[in-house]
Amino acid sequence: MRIEDNYDLSGLNTFRMKVRCAKHIEYESVEELASLDFDSLPKPIKHMGGGSNLLFTGDFPGTILHSAIRHVKYVDMGFDEVPVIVGSGVVWDKLVEELCGHGLWGAENLSLIPGEAGAAAVQNIGAYGVEFKDLVSGVSCFDLQERKKCKFTAAECRYGYRESMFKEASDRYVITSVLLKVSRSAGPRLGYKGLEGIDASSPQKVREAVIAIRRQKLPDPEEIGSAGSFFKNPVVSALEFARIAEIAGSRIVPHYVLDGGFIKVPAAWLIDQCGFKGAKEGGAAVYDKQPLVIVNASGHASPEDVLELERRIIAGVHQKFGVSLSPEVEHIG
Ligand code: EPU
Repeated sequence: MRIEDNYDLSGLNTFRMKVRCAKHIEYESVEELASLDFDSLPKPIKHMGGGSNLLFTGDFPGTILHSAIRHVKYVDMGFDEVPVIVGSGVVWDKLVEELCGHGLWGAENLSLIPGEAGAAAVQNIGAYGVEFKDLVSGVSCFDLQERKKCKFTAAECRYGYRESMFKEASDRYVITSVLLKVSRSAGPRLGYKGLEGIDASSPQKVREAVIAIRRQKLPDPEEIGSAGSFFKNPVVSALEFARIAEIAGSRIVPHYVLDGGFIKVPAAWLIDQCGFKGAKEGGAAVYDKQPLVIVNASGHASPEDVLELERRIIAGVHQKFGVSLSPEVEHIG
């Protein structure tokens, strides 16, 4: 277990905000986590994965916990479906690479998503028509309130679009491992626009295609700081959609019809229509290839720069289309 005080978090958040926390603890097992004297730790206590979906709005006065539980165990009984137990600290894309390498189907559309397995279970990560919830059977946790281990079925996790029970109870449960189900023969899911016509002869081939698409659209985390999609795609009623379409005039509004008649409109399109592509605020900027992403363009953007850009975008989209965007990225500080 590594315990450090006044810890520099700039290398541990993909936005590369230069912030510190009062205490940083990295544990390697559930037993190490359970052995901590939580009452004596600086508060609040916050669990962090790869730091790829959050914005530190300033120094963090409390304790950051980080899982280094990194086992991947296959419960292979020769059936088509293969259960896999994955430690919460496993880097998500390393896992996807390994599963695809074994010829196992299920996770390939979720290639190259930054972050770790535990955070994937909190956030219900999703891309190209697949979400984490499609793969998960159960989640093991440590309950900080009761100070004991507990387990949840996938249904109990109440997964929705970038939502889960763990987001609502983020102070309570620390995810320690996830039980996933992958398959020897399930085959590709190519319904998402952009995947049609790719070579889908193996999970590895689909992974390569997904990686190529993501590299075209999203900033390379090695080169430029960001937290991926900054906003959620808003879900509107048919009436609200009709108003957006009226404002758009002759321009066709891209959209996806959901169950119950609700309509998802790409936030990227709304932001683009408001002319924010490439907009700057101090060191922060709207990424020019995908305006849903705010980037630390200069490498020295402050949390205030990002927050100001966020405010401008929300106000601009609301003024033009009457739609309230909400951030997908968690704000901590
Ligand atoms: N668009 C524009 N202008 C642009 C770029 C895009 O108008 O400059 C419009 C286009 O109409 C495009 C639409 O935006 O069709 C949607 O873009 P895309 O399908 O690439 O994805 P998205 O809705 O922007 C979501 C996820 C991504 C995920 C992709 C692929 C959210 C908030 N984002 O983005 O997830 O990779 O779909 O499935 O749901 C993330 O969560 O960090 C993330 C990157």
